[in-house]
Formats: sequence, C-alpha cells, structure tokens
Amino acid sequence: MYHKPMLKEGSLKDKVFVVTGGGSGLGKSMTTYFLELGAKVAITSRNIDKLKAVKIELEEKTGGTVLPVQCDVRHYDQVEAMLKTTLDTFGKVDGLLNNAAGNFISPTERLSSNAFDTIIDIVLKGTKNCTLAFGKHWIHSKQEKATVLNIVTTYAWTGSAYVVPSATAKAGVLALTRSLAVEWAKYGMRFNAIAPGPFPTEGAWDRLLPGNLREKFDMAKKVPIGRVGEHQELANLAAYLMSDYSAYVNGEVITIDGGEWLKGAGEFNMLEEIPEEMWDMLEAMIRSKKKK
Ligand code: HXC
Ligand code: NAP
Repeated sequence: MYHKPMLKEGSLKDKVFVVTGGGSGLGKSMTTYFLELGAKVAITSRNIDKLKAVKIELEEKTGGTVLPVQCDVRHYDQVEAMLKTTLDTFGKVDGLLNNAAGNFISPTERLSSNAFDTIIDIVLKGTKNCTLAFGKHWIHSKQEKATVLNIVTTYAWTGSAYVVPSATAKAGVLALTRSLAVEWAKYGMRFNAIAPGPFPTEGAWDRLLPGNLREKFDMAKKVPIGRVGEHQELANLAAYLMSDYSAYVNGEVITIDGGEWLKGAGEFNMLEEIPEEMWDMLEAMIRSKKKK
C-alpha cells in the first residue's frame, strides 16, 4: 500500500539528521517519518515561530526529538551557526537533507536580476553552503560515515520554461551531488538526490499553480499512473537513502514521479489521446501505403 511506512521500526535509531526547510511541506513529512524511525532531527528555516510550533506537533505525534534552528541557507555564517547548534545539542550529525527551496512561475523576461538571484541563492547557494559547512566538519572530525540527500526535480535535466531560475539552480545541485559523490567518498560521505514529480504542498502549489491554474492544469493528468504523489511515498524513499540500508548507493538521482517526465518527453506520447476504435482505421491507412 503506497501510503504505508516502508522501513522497519528503529531503522534510524541513534541517527541525527538536519532537514533544511523541515517546517513545512515535504520537509515536514520526511522529518515526521525520520522521527518515527528513531532519528533525532534538527529542522531549519527562516521562520523560527513556525519551526517551534512544528517541534511541539511532531514530538507529540512521534515521541521523537526535534531541534528547531533558525537559519537562512543563503548566508554561510548562519549555516555554520546552525551546524554548531546541532552539534552542541546532539553531539554529532549523521545526515544532511538539503530540501529548502524557493520558486515561482514567471516568464523569464519579467524577472529582475534580483528575482533570478533569489532563487539561485536559496536553491544552489543554500545547498552549497550547507554541503560545504557539513562536509568540512565531517572531514575535520574524521567521522566514519555521513550522508547528504538533495531534493531536486526532473527538470534539473530536462530544463523547464517559466521556472528557469529553479531549473538552473536544481541542475547545479545535481552536478554538486554527482561530483562530491566521487570526490568525498574517501571521507565516508555519500551523496544522492531525489527528483520528485508532483507532490501537492501549500508552498509549491501557491507559487506554481496560483488561482484557477490548479484546475486548468491538473497535475495528475500529466502522470501516466494517473495521480499525484503521496508524501509517505517520498518519505519512504528519503528514509532509505538517509539510512545505512543504502550504504552502496552513491551519486544516484532517483526519480519518483509516476512516469511524469517521460510522458512529457516521448515524441509520440500524445497518441494516447487516440481512441482505441480508431486504431483499425489508422492501421489500414498505413498498410495501404506499402510499396508493392
Ligand atoms: C516576479 C518576483 C515574484 C514573482 C518575488 N519576486 N516574487 N518576481 N514574479 N511572482 C521578486 C521580488 O520582486 C524581488 O525582486 C525578488 O524576487 C525577491 O523577492 P522577495 O520577496 O524579497 O524574496 P524573499 O522574501 O527572499 O522570498 C523568496 C521567494 C518566496 C522565493 C520570492 O516565494 C519564498 O519565500 N519562497 C519559499 C518557499 C517556496 O518558494 N516554496 C516552493 C518550492 S516549490 P526585486 O528586484 O523586486 O528586488 C519547488 C517545486 C519544484 O521548488 C518542482 C515542482 C514540480
Ligand atoms: P515548501 O513547503 O515551500 O518548502 C520550502 C521550504 O524551504 C520551506 O520550509 C521554507 O521555510 C524553506 N526555505 C525557503 N527559503 C529558505 C531560506 N532562504 N533558508 C532556509 N529555508 C528556506 O515546498 P515543498 O513543496 O515542500 O518543497 C520542498 C522541496 O521539494 C524543495 O526542494 C522543492 O524544490 C522540492 N520539490 C517539490 C515538489 C512538489 O511537488 N512539492 C516537486 C519537486 C521538487 P521558510 O519559509 O520558513 O524559510
């Protein structure tokens, strides 16, 4: 059943994770599951009041331990301070989930230079800031193993009109993932990425499908499987990639989109709109053109 948890109880016992953007949407869902599996989790974002409320909610729900830490990932000094707070509280950190992001739809020519930079700064520079600070810590402390999981999108490799800063930044995050998977493996670090298809969240839907766009462009219709994703399905994959069960998975990007991007990519995929009964006629037309 797709909405059921996957890993066995205690799979993340004694692990300490940091989830950027852990106070809302997918970050909150993944954090919830990590807690249920026994991990301690620091959740970070710009809005500390939101994080404090989520700490109370999730500790009550899961019986786990949550540390809310204010941190704007665009600023390296804030990222270093967030790492220090986590280490002071938990004594170590085993995994970093770079989930924080900014995005909105816009024709690119309408964007100011600062608007473009804002998305690049949150997504690419933010992921770089966290990765560099945590990576240096793991190297200097000679920690035996650590893992970094980056949330990208399928348009990191296809590109996408109208979300160009996000596509540009996510492509950079994917390159960072694959590059460090090789360079820092010698220090015991693993780097992987997840490319989710549509998983409804307030943060994304308000900025990508405002007003009646969500009815006009029903995301489920773009997906061969015929539905959007369930948060637990993503949480299951993230927990696996953050856990030691995936110890031999390194440098991989795993797509979880019900086949969405391939449906968009295949040149003749639009032929699914042809009704079944028309195929006899089409076949006859094609066969009749055969050269004798
Ligand atoms: C054009 C815009 C704009 C818009 C903001 N700007 N919104 N330009 N169209 N709709 C411009 C501003 O005018 C400003 O430029 C610059 O962008 C920065 O805006 P601020 O509001 O000052 O930035 P900030 O307060 O830092 O907020 C960042 C944000 C905001 C990205 C604009 O939306 C935010 O906080 N988002 C965080 C959450 C989020 O985006 N979640 C969705 C992730 S979904 P000027 O020149 O005027 O100074 C996702 C899904 C991917 O990534 C795949 C889905 C399938
Ligand atoms: P979301 O709820 O808006 O999540 C974005 C999070 O990032 C928020 O918690 C936000 O918290 C945080 N954030 C934004 N700017 C920040 C900054 N400068 N510093 C620190 N934190 C910051 O949206 P979501 O849908 O769950 O997205 C989560 C991730 O999934 C993103 O990487 C997104 O690109 C990816 N994704 C989502 C979908 C989808 O269908 N939902 C599909 C593909 C990929 P604050 O506002 O409190 O700072």
